Amino acid sequence: MSRAGIEMLFPEPLLAGRVKELAAQINHDYSGEQVILVTVLRGGFVFLADLMRQLEIECSIDFLAISAYASADGAVGAVRVVKDLDDPIADQNVLIVEDIVDTGLTLNYLVKNLMARKPKSLKICTLLDRPTRRIPALELEYVGFDISDHFVVGYGLDFKGLYRNLPYIGLIDPGDIDWTTETSSRKKP
Ligand code: IMP
Ligand code: MG
Repeated sequence: MSRAGIEMLFPEPLLAGRVKELAAQINHDYSGEQVILVTVLRGGFVFLADLMRQLEIECSIDFLAISAYASADGAVGAVRVVKDLDDPIADQNVLIVEDIVDTGLTLNYLVKNLMARKPKSLKICTLLDRPTRRIPALELEYVGFDISDHFVVGYGLDFKGLYRNLPYIGLIDPGDIDWTTETSSRKKP
């Protein structure tokens, strides 16, 4: 059963099945290697928790938080790290674990920022990919599902800080919000 105003898109068993498939691919690709799973707070933590429990390779986790500031005309301006990783990543395999890649501006910034720290490898694993709004070209190594132009909540994803606890992913009634200007972590300077 989904909540009023939220239309079921990916029920729990579908998410669990896809997470297992992604983990199998990652286990295969990193076989014999160690990897640091880097998750961008806050949306990615539910996906990370499920994904890491399906991993058989040696892995550690680290978190960072990012803020993207809208400029006066509403366009996305500077992105900055508001909470950095706790540990260095030089010469280590890094896998970014994201909830959703939308415009890709956040990840584009993050990839540049992390590459400057000279990891052994850097790849991206995202549960959801919305390629229609992509601005910079990004290589996404592992993608759970493609979605189109709908704002989604649940399984870590929020609308105004809420709905992260839903065990499934659903569409929130687009009549209620202008989702194209909505981002969970964006605020004005
Ligand atoms: P990007 O820089 O536009 O790719 O921003 C991606 C971030 O925006 C994601 O990590 C989410 O935190 C947030 N976001 C984008 N689309 C949605 C959505 O449909 N629901 C909830 N959060 C979203
Ligand atoms: Mg996010």
